[in-house]
Amino acid sequence: MKAYVDKDKCIGCGLCTDLCPEVFSMDDDGTATAIDEPIPEDAEDAAREAAEQCPVEAISIDEED
Ligand code: F3S
Repeated sequence: MKAYVDKDKCIGCGLCTDLCPEVFSMDDDGTATAIDEPIPEDAEDAAREAAEQCPVEAISIDEED
């Protein structure tokens, strides 16, 4: 499972980095980014939660990746 952040949509609210800091972090440009590797199993639920809660739906999850 991997997560991706659409930087054109992200408004930098920081919710994803609060909910799932194992996967999401803020870039210098004020938008979030996701780790470029498979999400650790114990962080998967939090990553899905972040994707659901993001106010601009900037996070996509690839369950197969
Ligand atoms: Fe951006 Fe959404 Fe995270 S707006 S900072 S991707 S919760």
